[in-house]
Amino acid sequence: MSNNSNGLLAWIDARFPLTKLWNEHLAQYYAPKNFNFWYYFGSLALLILVLQIVTGIWLTMNYKPDAELAFASVEYIMRDVNWGWLIRYMHSTGASAFFIVIYLHMFRGLLYGSHRKPRELIWIFGMLIYVCLMAEAFMGYLLPWGQMSYWGAQVIISLFGAIPGIGDTLALWIRGDYVISDVTLNRFFAFHVIAVPIILLALVVMHIMALHEVGSNNPDGVEIKKHKDENGVPLDGIPFHPYYTVKDIVGVVVFLIFFSIVIFFMPEMGGWFLEKDNFIPADPLKTPEHIVPLWYFTPFYAILRAIPDKLGGVIAMGAAIVVLFFLPWLDRSPVKSIRYKGILYKIALAIFVVTFIALGYLGTQPATPVLTSFAQVFTFLYFAFFLFMPIYTRIDRTKPEPERVTWK
Ligand code: HEM
Repeated sequence: MSNNSNGLLAWIDARFPLTKLWNEHLAQYYAPKNFNFWYYFGSLALLILVLQIVTGIWLTMNYKPDAELAFASVEYIMRDVNWGWLIRYMHSTGASAFFIVIYLHMFRGLLYGSHRKPRELIWIFGMLIYVCLMAEAFMGYLLPWGQMSYWGAQVIISLFGAIPGIGDTLALWIRGDYVISDVTLNRFFAFHVIAVPIILLALVVMHIMALHEVGSNNPDGVEIKKHKDENGVPLDGIPFHPYYTVKDIVGVVVFLIFFSIVIFFMPEMGGWFLEKDNFIPADPLKTPEHIVPLWYFTPFYAILRAIPDKLGGVIAMGAAIVVLFFLPWLDRSPVKSIRYKGILYKIALAIFVVTFIALGYLGTQPATPVLTSFAQVFTFLYFAFFLFMPIYTRIDRTKPEPERVTWK
């Protein structure tokens, strides 16, 4: 048996670098031995990516990208297709789970300085993934052709109209019509099911290739490649497989427990994962009272509404995302990990977390004068975190970094 499989493996290896890839990326990829809780989210993001693609393929088998049929086809999936309700809820819950996991994955970067030299490109690829993911979720949300699908898209695309000169033409070009219509639905479907997923997959491959080129960071923020044994193996590294494959399976099991609880007992999550208005078919003649995007967009939506001028709001919202790309160069601290950073960074990060959550909440609320004032304060704090970072990280009193990773 083993001879046979060795024979087969040898046959494949002579034609395709299977063992080489396995060794380079798993069995002989040495990851720091001190990974903690925060290191679950990369593999969980991979899991959700696969889940979304698989459930998406099955949804596509019964979904109809036609303004006359789309809403009813989703209801058909929910009621008549065998296990259709499960596949749809896995996909809709998967979208929110993806953003929860990605936000935690990005936050890990802020904790341990994972975006710092030499991992700037991992971060840039990550940010491109994040932008693609937002586009993917935005276009996917139009497909059920409910009231919020329709009016959400209407509001967001009309924002492009604020760009001087080309704005209206651009909005028209994106919609393919003067309002959101069947034409828009068709092109969003094409982008959602094939164009954006291909780009996403390519970016994820580049993200992981860049990571495996430089090696993983860790909660101490020290480079394990500085101390190697006589065979060139990092002294503080352990093979990814079996150590972290097994650890990641624990994360997967815990994640799937929570994921199942949501799918089976609260798939709408009180309107946070599937909005109530989206159970009403799209009606171009009836605007819903409050048009609110799903929770993962609301921090940016709050920033948009905080600026009284439409163009200013669009610029601020765009800048809130663009500024994240520059993070690797804004942090000037001599140490990477929050464990050795000073009090200033810790306070700034805590304020930033509160700010992001507060903006997320404000984005779900009607824009009353009082709430808008709050949104303005938090918008200032959001940008202050990044813009003052080169200053407070430089004057912060850091602790000395250890030579080797710490391990209890
Ligand atoms: C589909 C989305 C994504 C997938 C599948 C993914 C996957 C992964 C995996 C498997 C790892 C290695 C394991 C780990 O460190 O947790 C990783 C590391 C990393 N990711 Fe992502 N990622 C995604 C999105 C992002 C985003 C949006 C960002 C930030 C903007 C990002 C930033 C990073 C960084 C900086 C590392 C290196 C961490 C370290 O070495 O400490 N990733 N990613």
